[in-house]
Amino acid sequence: MRRKIIAGNWKMNMTPSEAVQLVNELKPLVANEEVDVVFCVPAIDIIPAMEAAKGSNINIGAENMYFEDKGAFTGEISPAMLTDVGVKYVVIGHSERREYFAETDETVNKKVKKAFEYGITPIICCGESLAQREQGVTIDFIRQQIKIAFLDVTAEQAKKAVIAYEPIWAIGTGKVATTEQAQEVCKAIRECIAEIYDDATAEEIRIQYGGSVSASSAPELFAQPDIDGGLVGGASLKPDFGSIVNYNK
Ligand code: 13P
Repeated sequence: MRRKIIAGNWKMNMTPSEAVQLVNELKPLVANEEVDVVFCVPAIDIIPAMEAAKGSNINIGAENMYFEDKGAFTGEISPAMLTDVGVKYVVIGHSERREYFAETDETVNKKVKKAFEYGITPIICCGESLAQREQGVTIDFIRQQIKIAFLDVTAEQAKKAVIAYEPIWAIGTGKVATTEQAQEVCKAIRECIAEIYDDATAEEIRIQYGGSVSASSAPELFAQPDIDGGLVGGASLKPDFGSIVNYNK
């Protein structure tokens, strides 16, 4: 039985002092010991958010990471910088990073491998555009993203990975995918993992849905057989996130 993982992606929101306030506000609301709770926050918020989250069930994660160990890469955050302060999760290849910061399936693969090298769990994002959905190529496109993201990743590593299926047209639009659409793609992702590796790996890997998840849509989405939680943007900055994390109560 896979344990659910519900993560917030703060994106470029919250100053360090606002981050402390938000963690303190949400701490009692997200106290559901039956699920893994992660707040992926801007790099500068990681340390203060961790301090604020101490003693709670909240894991603080990063929103991005570079694929080299160190060196002349101005502005980037290295994996060792993350592990040094105790970060265990990092979002890799969010569609916003692909769109605005030129990330590709190849850089995603490099980052995924580097995260595993450092013992950080990557939350690997994939998702189709509206045009791709309308062209009927959603599953083909996602399969390609997944196959490249997992190149040279071992089955042992893949078992620990988290995949976030986030249809781009559902992000920040209030237009949540239907439960059937979300389940269909998450199932296809699991089948793709089974093809690359084996059934045991596919059974273990956790697949989230992301895109306008709200307190009202979470229970039905997370009840689907292949949806193991969510990656939540806007609603993770509000008390609503407490209801999403407690979707099963
Ligand atoms: P919203 O929940 O705001 O649609 O964002 C989803 C997302 O991009 C999470 O990574």
